[in-house]
Amino acid sequence: MDKIFIEGGRTLKGSIRISGAKNAALPLMAATILAPGQHVLHNVPDLRDTRTMLVLLESFGITWQRREKDNALLIDATNLDNIEASYDLVKTMRASVLVLGPLLARMGQARVSLPGGCAIGARPIDFHMQGLGRLGVELSLEQGYVEGKIDGRLQGSDVNFDIPSVTGTENILMAATLAEGVTTIKNAAREPEIGNLVDMLINMGARIEGKGTDRLVVHGVNELRSAEARVIPDRIETGTYLIAVGATGGELTLTDCDPTHLASLIDKLREVGLDIEEGVDHLWVARHGALKSVDIKTMPYPGFPTDLQAQIMALMSISQGLSVITETIFENRFMHVAELARMGADIRIDGKSSIVKGRSGLSGAQVMATDLRASASLVIAALAAEGETEISRVYHLDRGYDNLAGKLNNVGARIRRVKE
Ligand code: UD1
Repeated sequence: MDKIFIEGGRTLKGSIRISGAKNAALPLMAATILAPGQHVLHNVPDLRDTRTMLVLLESFGITWQRREKDNALLIDATNLDNIEASYDLVKTMRASVLVLGPLLARMGQARVSLPGGCAIGARPIDFHMQGLGRLGVELSLEQGYVEGKIDGRLQGSDVNFDIPSVTGTENILMAATLAEGVTTIKNAAREPEIGNLVDMLINMGARIEGKGTDRLVVHGVNELRSAEARVIPDRIETGTYLIAVGATGGELTLTDCDPTHLASLIDKLREVGLDIEEGVDHLWVARHGALKSVDIKTMPYPGFPTDLQAQIMALMSISQGLSVITETIFENRFMHVAELARMGADIRIDGKSSIVKGRSGLSGAQVMATDLRASASLVIAALAAEGETEISRVYHLDRGYDNLAGKLNNVGARIRRVKE
């Protein structure tokens, strides 16, 4: 298990290229299951999670290669000879559940391990199962696996989510493309990554209306064809670097990103006191003056993303005043609080909220990464802290951040990675 050491107190200055979004790449990769032939995916980030998805696809008989000249990922889903997603793979990446809908749509059966618990809460998959049940799938739970099967084609139907679920919406959407008849997904999640999937499915020949809204209407077709798609920029990576500049001072230009996907964060960071200029595909951010505390409440898109809650908490712990951060999406997503406290942050948890009393500085300490976004918050705190911070269990960061240490070192940070 590798560790990283961060020397704090250095301002950031320069330019960072934003990678493709992990949470968009994973459903696009799963969607290749739906049609034989060679699919071409551009801008897929090279992360632990995208590698896990490739291993999962390989386990079904799918082949893939990277094309050097434009760094495209070629995925050939002509051959499918296995319909089981094993516990060993699913336990390392919850998003493996995204293969359930496509496998059922193309093969009429699937066996996918239940993901089990994870650091940020119970995270059940009951919405996925209920939705697939509405499409006529017979589902059962056998020895920790969800088994689904259907005679003939899936049947279009109305699927209504109690809470908008991102991967739930994606799973039903993919399944419905090959169903007989019309499926209407109500209270669908509206995250931009779903729009990216809709575009790819349309390129494959699917008929979908309502992109970007909470009501998606899918007219099932008899078959789909292989297609080409481009993964959208990672809004969470972009947001993490915006917040980092708040913590360290200096200025950064972020290129190849989409500022329209980050409106809620950008508004908040301007209130905090950062200067931000938005271009079509880039952002410029600088901090000159003092930081002002703001209140945050996580919400489904277009609200403030839960995947940036830990990072903004690190910033609030060095801002002037009191900040109330309320987490409404996941019940146990404050694991980073205890680690930030080791660096001197003054944070009290009260149910779904954390009350952060800003102070003038943090100090380097030994801390432990507990989940993907919590790790990013520790990096931000460490960049701003006095002295050196040692972060262990950084494999969490590798799941979702493309070359984080390299990118930050290029703009003035001092981060060392040590193999254990
Ligand atoms: C996705 C993102 C994750 C992000 C989250 C919320 C991917 C690969 N991951 O996760 O980074 O933090 O959206 O923006 O895109 N729920 C149920 N039953 C279900 C499904 C969800 O109760 O069957 C609940 C969850 O516990 C949570 C809420 O619904 O409280 C929303 O979760 P969901 O949008 O499904 O998260 P993921 O799709 O797993």
